[in-house]
Amino acid sequence: MRTIDWVDDAIEIIDQTALPDRTTVLRLSTVETVVDAIRSLAVRGAPALGVAGALGVALAARLHHDEPQRLADAVERLRTARPTAVNLARGVDRAAARLAESPSAVLAEAVALRDEEEAASVAMARLGADLLGQLCPPRCRLLTHCNTGALATVTGGTALGVVVELHRRGGLESVIASETRPLLQGARLTAWELDRAGVDFRVAVDGAGPFLMARGRVDAVVVGADRICANGDTINKIGTYAHALGARRAGLPFVVVAPESTVDPATATGAQVEIEDRGSAEVVSFAAARTTPAGAGAVNPAFDVTPADLVTAVVTDRRVIRLDRGEQI
Ligand code: MRU
Repeated sequence: MRTIDWVDDAIEIIDQTALPDRTTVLRLSTVETVVDAIRSLAVRGAPALGVAGALGVALAARLHHDEPQRLADAVERLRTARPTAVNLARGVDRAAARLAESPSAVLAEAVALRDEEEAASVAMARLGADLLGQLCPPRCRLLTHCNTGALATVTGGTALGVVVELHRRGGLESVIASETRPLLQGARLTAWELDRAGVDFRVAVDGAGPFLMARGRVDAVVVGADRICANGDTINKIGTYAHALGARRAGLPFVVVAPESTVDPATATGAQVEIEDRGSAEVVSFAAARTTPAGAGAVNPAFDVTPADLVTAVVTDRRVIRLDRGEQI
C-alpha cells in the first residue's frame, strides 16, 4: 500500500499520528486538510512531503481552477506549510508549473512525481545495500535515526529501504532505532516498519547512540535527509548531528541516503537553510502529561545540520558520492 496516493479525486494518506496503535487512512479533499496534515505530521518525511505538495496543488487546481487568487493562495500555503525539507517546495513548484494547462495536466505531473519517488526508493535500496555490504561485511549492525521507510516516502524508503534490502540479502545482523524525541518517529514508526519487515531491532533513547557506538555495538550509522546542500552539509531530524559526531569519534561510517529530489545544489551550505522550530508544546509534555514546571519554555528545532566532513557517503537513486574521498555533490 502507498503511504500517500490520489484516489477518486482526493488524496489519501496513512495517518502517521495514529501509528503504531491504529492504521487509519485519512481522505483529504480540501487544501486546508492537506496543509493541516503536513503541519501535524500526519504525512511527513521529505519525499512524501514532496508528493503531498504536488498532489495538494492538483487538488487545488481541480477545486479552484476558476478562482485565480484563491488558487495562488492555496499554492503558497502548501509551499510554506513546512520550511526545511526541500522536497515540499519543489513538489509544489513542479505541479504548479502546469497550472496554465489544465487541472489534469497538474495531476499528471503530481502522479509522475509519485511514481519517480517509488522508483527512486528501489534504486537507493540497491545502491545503499551494495555500499553497506562493502563497509561492514559480512553482516552489519546498524543504527538509524528518525523514520525513513515507506511511511516517509511512498513505498520503499530511503535509509530504511537500504536496511530492509540488506536484511533481504542476508547482510544485516540487527538495527538500533533511536526513538527520536519529541515526536517519536523512530519509536513509533521505524519500529513499526522494522517489525513488519521481520528485522531484528531494538529501540534506544536518542542520547544512547554515541555510547553504543563507543562500546562497539554498532558497525555503521545510516540516516535519511531533508535537504543536502551543495557542499554536502546534510539537514535531517534533530539528533542526527550528535549521531554523526558519535560515529566519527568511534571511527564508524556515517551514510546518508536520499533521492536526488532531496539534493539542493542551489543552497551552498547548511547555514542558509531555515530550520523549522515547532514551538514549546511538543517538548514540555509527554503523552499529554506535563513533564516540566508550569511556565517552562523550550527550544524545539525539528532538524539539525550535519557538516559534510562528518559524512562518509551520500547514496542517491543515481549515484554514491564518497564525501570521505573528496567527491563532490
Ligand atoms: O519531521 P519529519 O518527521 O518530517 O522529519 C523527517 C526526517 O527528518 C527524515 O529523516 C527525512 O525526511 C528523511 S526520510 C525519507
